[in-house]
Amino acid sequence: MRQKIVAGNWKMNLDLNQGKALLLEILDSNINKDTLTIIAPPAIHLNSFNQMLSHTSIALAAQNCHQQDSGAYTGELSVGMLKSVGVEYVIIGHSERREYFMEDSLSLSFKVNNVIKHGLRPIYCCGETLTQRQEGEHFRTISNQIEQGLFQLNEMELLNCIVAYEPVWAIGTGETASPEQAQEVHNFIRKTIAKQYGDMVADNISILYGGSVKPANAKELFTCPDIDGGLIGGAALNAESFVAIGDSF
Ligand code: 13P
Repeated sequence: MRQKIVAGNWKMNLDLNQGKALLLEILDSNINKDTLTIIAPPAIHLNSFNQMLSHTSIALAAQNCHQQDSGAYTGELSVGMLKSVGVEYVIIGHSERREYFMEDSLSLSFKVNNVIKHGLRPIYCCGETLTQRQEGEHFRTISNQIEQGLFQLNEMELLNCIVAYEPVWAIGTGETASPEQAQEVHNFIRKTIAKQYGDMVADNISILYGGSVKPANAKELFTCPDIDGGLIGGAALNAESFVAIGDSF
């Protein structure tokens, strides 16, 4: 079902003590209970955070997973392991994974499949680079990412996915896509999904915007008809701004 969602992607920031302190600050704030709040800390914090979050409405996400269930994959984490420490969502295909770890949409489709197989929900990221936008290639880039990463799923499986549109040029740059630019792409993503799966599926998928979201711009982004919330980076590392973004619907 289409939900209002604010997800904080902490990326590779904060050690365990710093992370716990931020989580406690968020828990002490009055988070918006009408919005699904998700936190994706570094994987090493997941187990302790799971204990801190029991009896709260905040859900835990991992920032990545491996596509196999077990085996000789040094340094990797399986979906089963993540599930065993309370993870419900897994960010798949963040642009930083695509850029620095050579992940492509086809290999990401295997991760998506594995997350779904274990009953967790992928937060599947897509988005164009600045060059792709300047060359007018953004729609094609995004439809390729969506089709190659997600269209192997059946309807019910796709309904368990969340899509995040994160234009690479807006991530960590302070430059946000304008509400019109973001809405245009979100609508395009919904139409791409509708063409393959029909309107019922497309209308029920949550599509999040990510890229320099902050309290000052969250409201105008979140009031766009096809934007269901945000995947927040830098502003999620501050309790006050993260909670304020959650209040921006
Ligand atoms: P910023 O909010 O820091 O631009 O990061 C966005 C992001 O990459 C979230 O996944």
